[in-house]
Amino acid sequence: MKNSLFRKGVLAFSALTLTFSASSALAQCDDGEIVAKFSHVTGGTTHPKVVAANNFAARVNEEMNGIMCVEVFPNSTLFGDSKELEALLLGDVQFLAPSLSKFGSYTRKYGVFDLPFIFEDIDAAIRFTQSDTGRALLNDMSDLGFVGLGYWMSGMKYFSANKPLIVPSDANGLKFRVQASDVAKAMIAAMGASPQPMAFAEVYGALQTGVVDGQENTWSNIYTKKFFEVQDSVTETNHQLLAYLFMTSTDFLDSLEPAVRDQLLIIADEVTQQANLDVKAAEAKNRQNILDSGGTINELSAEQRAEWVEAMRPVWDQFEGDIGVEIIESAASS
Ligand code: SIN
Repeated sequence: MKNSLFRKGVLAFSALTLTFSASSALAQCDDGEIVAKFSHVTGGTTHPKVVAANNFAARVNEEMNGIMCVEVFPNSTLFGDSKELEALLLGDVQFLAPSLSKFGSYTRKYGVFDLPFIFEDIDAAIRFTQSDTGRALLNDMSDLGFVGLGYWMSGMKYFSANKPLIVPSDANGLKFRVQASDVAKAMIAAMGASPQPMAFAEVYGALQTGVVDGQENTWSNIYTKKFFEVQDSVTETNHQLLAYLFMTSTDFLDSLEPAVRDQLLIIADEVTQQANLDVKAAEAKNRQNILDSGGTINELSAEQRAEWVEAMRPVWDQFEGDIGVEIIESAASS
């Protein structure tokens, strides 16, 4: 409390009023407040996850001042991909928003989000997450101690490489960094290329030094992590979704007084809705940022795009058993 209401108010004001930027400064937490850490791997100021995480912290720090204080650690500065879920269960961090592709060791069902071309666009993905099937998946890992607070969309994904990729055969023999996802690995193999799972924090260096030839990501990640600077070009394949599970742990949520928990859950829900309203504009802005910074984007004709769809079609059948036909059908018809 004391002077911190003013200090936090300033942080909250700056994060809420800047549409695409957010303060990365740590909140000043006071004695007696529940201090909750939010760790994530993305960076920059225009990234949808950066903005949403900072908005969440700003709102908690303003509206729950004296009760709870959220500190945000972006850019893998607290935990990277490989450690963050374990850290959540150990109570070393209280909030995360990992990519849905990174849950393969905990649930096979999230593979549905990785199936190539299953979602026409972000709106279709949002519709799926709001369906009964999507809502049930939010807490698919509750028996493990994970609580899904909401899905945060990040964007559709695009391939980049050290040579132009126009049709799938252009990728033959190349090595692509992928997230730790069996579906992503199968998808790269279907293109006649080699998948190389790797933590997000290592991707820029791996592209720069030629450890891998290419990667797949959203405009926001390609811009804020400067991948476009160390690639020939990015191809507008729109082939896959990137979305996050905004999450906490059962232990943390159960440790809160009911009124505190309820207030927190309302803020989490409102921040999630806002994040999903803002995401398309953020992606469009970061696509333009890439062009303005000298990056090259290859657009595809309908025929060229159809070749990518055809090349990746076998991947769905491969994962039908793991994911479940009903879940796949529900996502595909969203
Ligand atoms: C993220 O956006 O959180 C990281 C995505 C990736 O690992 O490619």
